Amino acid sequence: MAPKKLAAGNWKMNGVTASLVELDALAARENGCDVLICPPATLITPAVAHAGEIAIGGQDCHANESGAHTGDISAAMLADAGASHVILGHSERRADHGETDAQVAAKAIAAHGAGLVTVICVGETEAERDGGDTLDVIASQLAGSVPDCATAANTVIAYEPVWAIGTGRTPNSEQIAEVHALMRDKLSGRFSDGADFSLLYGGSVKPGNAAEIFAIAHVDGALVGGASLKASDFGPIIDALAQA
Ligand code: PGA
Repeated sequence: MAPKKLAAGNWKMNGVTASLVELDALAARENGCDVLICPPATLITPAVAHAGEIAIGGQDCHANESGAHTGDISAAMLADAGASHVILGHSERRADHGETDAQVAAKAIAAHGAGLVTVICVGETEAERDGGDTLDVIASQLAGSVPDCATAANTVIAYEPVWAIGTGRTPNSEQIAEVHALMRDKLSGRFSDGADFSLLYGGSVKPGNAAEIFAIAHVDGALVGGASLKASDFGPIIDALAQA
């Protein structure tokens, strides 16, 4: 099994019922690769009805199955709502909610238990890159956030430099290639099917830079924020991936 190409959209805290017209437009396309949209949790169930072949995912889950955790959502609840995937350890969760690698790994175990595919995010801050620590940070986040039960079938890894998210700035091709090669190497050293995990790049992916990013070795797709909100932006990114 070779890594599957995946174009994943993270709507973050954007979207109301009316936004589902964007999903209608994506579902009506000839996409040519796997597509995932992670809307806010309030839209998961209605999104499934608009998604056609497009997979629908959550943006986070709790590590416990149920209980007294006001405002949280369990992996089983996401699955029950119709989600097939969940993003975990996004840098905004790590920053806004203080999520640690160990918590991300615990959430991933819960998500796999509920039958969800996890999209586990790693990425260095600008200070870490400037300090020359990027590869160490990525290796340590991977080791700590990806649980032993991960397989190429239940886990996708997204490399998202924190400084590239929502900023319009991206690493150059050599910088992306270096991190993706490291991730492939670490996963292959740890998991028997490590060569088959899909590795996404995320951070200011746009229609104008997608083809260049998808040409980089070990980049199997993208995790897209802002440019996933409109089918007119996300469609060309999907096409660039399908053609890569
Ligand atoms: P962006 O976000 O595409 O808006 O930079 C990416 C992400 O946070 O997943």
